[in-house]
Formats: sequence, C-alpha cells, structure tokens
Amino acid sequence: MNTNDFLPINGTDYVEFYVGNAKQAAHYYQTAFGFQPLAYAGLETGLKDRTSYVLKQDKIRFVLTSSLDPDNHIAGHHNRHGDGVKVVALWVDDARKSFEETVKRGARPYFEPVVEKDAHGEVVRAGIHTYGETVHVFVERRNYQGAFLPGYIAWEPPYRPAETGLKYIDHMVGNVDWGQMDIWVKFYEDVMGFRNLVSFDDKDISTEYTALMSKVMSNGNGYIKFPINEPAIGKKKSQIEEYIEFYRGSGVQHVAMATGDIIHTIRELRARGVEFLHVPDTYYETVTERVGLIEEDLEVLKRLNILIDRDDEGYLLQLFTKPVLDRPTVFFEIIQRKGATSFGKGNFKALFESIEREQARRGTL
Ligand code: FE2
Repeated sequence: MNTNDFLPINGTDYVEFYVGNAKQAAHYYQTAFGFQPLAYAGLETGLKDRTSYVLKQDKIRFVLTSSLDPDNHIAGHHNRHGDGVKVVALWVDDARKSFEETVKRGARPYFEPVVEKDAHGEVVRAGIHTYGETVHVFVERRNYQGAFLPGYIAWEPPYRPAETGLKYIDHMVGNVDWGQMDIWVKFYEDVMGFRNLVSFDDKDISTEYTALMSKVMSNGNGYIKFPINEPAIGKKKSQIEEYIEFYRGSGVQHVAMATGDIIHTIRELRARGVEFLHVPDTYYETVTERVGLIEEDLEVLKRLNILIDRDDEGYLLQLFTKPVLDRPTVFFEIIQRKGATSFGKGNFKALFESIEREQARRGTL
C-alpha cells in the first residue's frame, strides 16, 4: 500500500449506463444476469427529465438511466453513443479531496463537490471527465443508510430472478481513439496516481487481420484496474476501430465481473439467453499444453465454451459476451481468478478470431 497515494479508492461504487429505455434495460439485467432491484428515481420521486433504475448483485451496482426530455444531456449522449457507460463511480473516503487533488493535477471538472442529504444520511459526490464523454464520480458515503443515494427510493418489485453468482467488478476497459492511449495512460498516472501494470502491443495482440495495443492502469491498492485499448494498423478493421466508429468516439468497452464459480455462472447466463463469443472446439485440443493442470473438468469447460489462461501466479477462467446493445460496442466479461492476476493474454488470438467472424457477419471487418 502506497502511503503517498493522493487518491485512495475503496472500490467501484457504481457504473451508470445511459440507455434508451431504462425500465426495459432493468428487466434485462434482472432476468438475464440476475441483478437484484435496489433503488429507483423518476417522476414519482420528483424528477421531471429522467428515470433511473439501480440494480445490485453482491458488490456490483448498475444504474440504468434514460431521458424523459429530448433536449437534456442524457438524450444527447444517447443519441450520439447509443446505450453506453456514462459514469464510472469510485467509492472514496473524501470526495472533496479526491476532486481537489485530481483537478489540481489537470482533471477537467464534471461537477463540483455537492452534499446530498435525506432522512437516511448524507453523501458527498464530485465528478471529473475522463476519455470521450465518460466521467468519474467520486462518492463519499458518510453512514448513509438509504437504498442507494439521496433522491432515490427503495425499489422493491416482486419479480426477482435468482442471482447468477456475479460478485464484484474485476476491471473495466476503455477503448480510445487512434493515438490517444498514451495520453490517457498519462492522465491515469499523473492526475489519478495510477501506475501502468502491464502493456501489450500489436505483436501480442494481433491476428492475420487486426491489431490493437493495450495498457493496464491500476490504482495504489490495486482495487481498480482500467486497461486502455487503442487500435493498431492491421490488414482489416479491428474491433477497437469498429467500437470507435459505432460509439462515435472513446468509451467503455467492457466491464469484467468476477464470479467464484464460473461453471455455475455461465450455465445460468446461457440458460437465460446471454450470448457469448464462440471459440472452436480445436481450442480445447491444445489448451492443456498451454495451461497445464486445472481443477475443473475440461469437458465441462468445453461444453460451456469457457476459456482458460495461466500466468506465473496461477490460472484464470473467462468468457466474453457478444455486445449487449444494438451497436457493436459494450460487452461483458465473466472471470474467475484462481491465482492469476493477468487478463487472459493467451486467449487473445482465439478471441479476436472469434470477434472477426462476428465482424464479418456485420460487414464491419
Ligand atoms: Fe477484460
């Protein structure tokens, strides 16, 4: 633990998506991913211009917000980007200090510190801009006992499909435009005090057709990991370029959610209609040579199409959904770590070939 950490972060507080229809999106995350209803804000709570549904699964909180006003910033954001992540909120002990320290180091303010209160206590929040139109909001909860934040009421519908075993956000990846990766690496280093854990270049991450570069940024205590991707020159259009084109700029590419039992989680998600990238059966013919002994039954992993990778510290199991929106932009990763602290580099090639097959079907390769 770095005692000079000027931006101590306790974890991800929430991730807010701006979507076209928050009510229906909430139903999708409940039904398909097993998120539980937590809080609501909208016309009934005095808001005139938006509706937000808050869902929770263990430590993960998603806020789904849609606009009721064609002229507000939510509608503008949705019109430009489609459904996507607007806010990556970080749980801190001191939101004012987090704001001051980052702004002092060059962060562009999104909103000044504001104290929000209701009968359940007090929350302080402040925001700064990051890549594209994405923002970080610092959230300081002082013994707040309410459902989510002041202004929200508890949302308690009878419809509650079971959880699927998702526990916490392992990492969140941003795609940035050509030539922007090092600018944002520097932003996370200088403005937020993160460090660059690992880098991949186009030699690590390329197939016959496409290439990308990636650098993994981590905060002082390692609770927050933000890999940042940039497209690289390839024979054809990379998935990062496809994202940038359809998202109309930089934004969050995927949210990786950890599970303690990936076999159970993937079985549930598949049964509920979540679609995953597919790697061919031949992947499993050579995987043991690469990863050695694992505890899980390889036949079961193959049947569920779960991927495996190993590093010096252990191994990991992972799988990626197809984009969960209309545009080929945001998707989710499901990951179970068994010692490994890396990100599945050994699976990149098989995955990218799978993504290219999807891109070819979309006519965007
Ligand atoms: Fe990932």
